[in-house]
Amino acid sequence: MDPVSDLEAKALIEIASAAPDLQALQDLEVRWLGKKGELTLQLRETGKLPEAERPAFGQKVNAAKGRVLESLQAKRALAELNELQQRLEKDRLDPTLPGRRSLGTGSLHPLTRITLECCQVLQRLGFNIETGPELEDEFHNFDALNVPSDHPARDGMDSYYVGGKVLRTHTSNVQIRVMQKRKPPLRMAAPGRVFRRDAIDATHGAQFHQIEGLAVDSFGRVRFSDLKGTLESFCRQIFGRKLSIRLRPSHFPFTEPSIEVDVQCFKCTGSGCALCKQSGWIELGGGGMVHPNVYQACGLEPGDWAGFAFGLGLDRLAMLKWGIPDLRLLAENDPRFLAQF
Ligand code: FA5
Repeated sequence: MDPVSDLEAKALIEIASAAPDLQALQDLEVRWLGKKGELTLQLRETGKLPEAERPAFGQKVNAAKGRVLESLQAKRALAELNELQQRLEKDRLDPTLPGRRSLGTGSLHPLTRITLECCQVLQRLGFNIETGPELEDEFHNFDALNVPSDHPARDGMDSYYVGGKVLRTHTSNVQIRVMQKRKPPLRMAAPGRVFRRDAIDATHGAQFHQIEGLAVDSFGRVRFSDLKGTLESFCRQIFGRKLSIRLRPSHFPFTEPSIEVDVQCFKCTGSGCALCKQSGWIELGGGGMVHPNVYQACGLEPGDWAGFAFGLGLDRLAMLKWGIPDLRLLAENDPRFLAQF
């Protein structure tokens, strides 16, 4: 055999017996057909031949190179298929695996939700939303609300003092601030955080939230029945018809007459359980007709005005609305709890 056919035969045998591996085939291509490949080097021999034989020799080498390349390409296609099969085998999709969890989207905290819902309901009833300071002076938290320093009602509430001011014990301070700022007629609602030295349990925190309501107009234009209607409409809109409410006589120094609002316990629906201390009811808040001394403290003539005020526990509202058995859950920020809202 001549050297070109000899080399071609060797190359074809090597390719045929090579592993179907892309890197190995690349090496073979370089070895046989590369710039310094064994078959390519044969072309250099052309110059040594007599003139007449050169074209035929060149054609022969190129034809041999072409067949070797064809054989390499065929083997390469096989190697690619082989590699794909291996990859598919390795990355086999298991449709029974649980899906990967994404971080998920956040949601509003239940206290934020109930605050927004209460504000929306009260806005529909004509109340403006106001805010007041959490660190308050004694005048706005107590004195102007007809709770002088020797009044027994202070004992249970005057809890945390910071630099001569008190962490407000209720949102009723906003009543005073608004009436000092604006003459009635007015209707305002003020949500916010309040602080008290209270024994902590499932329905009591040392830090909780209230929403205050105040409606004042010329004497004779706002009556106790308006307070009752507002509270009934408010609770109906928040709870639907699921839970009944009741009003019972009570006492607050800043309202006369005064009432307390209770909502049927969501856990026992009224039959009595540990959460409602066997009463069947959970206290939601207090209210009443604004006391004349409060108008006076705000620089208003008591005889000219009449109005009602109320203050409701927002944490209790959230408990009752969503059946939360312990209001401490609202402060713990456990994602397993929060993800339910
Ligand atoms: C008051 O705070 C009055 N300022 C309400 C008011 C406003 C009366 C305007 C008249 C006119 P009371 O202390 O009852 O009232 O609290 C109102 C509501 O706040 C309670 O019914 C309850 O729902 C909630 N609350 C009171 N203490 C706590 C506590 N420790 N933890 C959680 N919620 C509480």
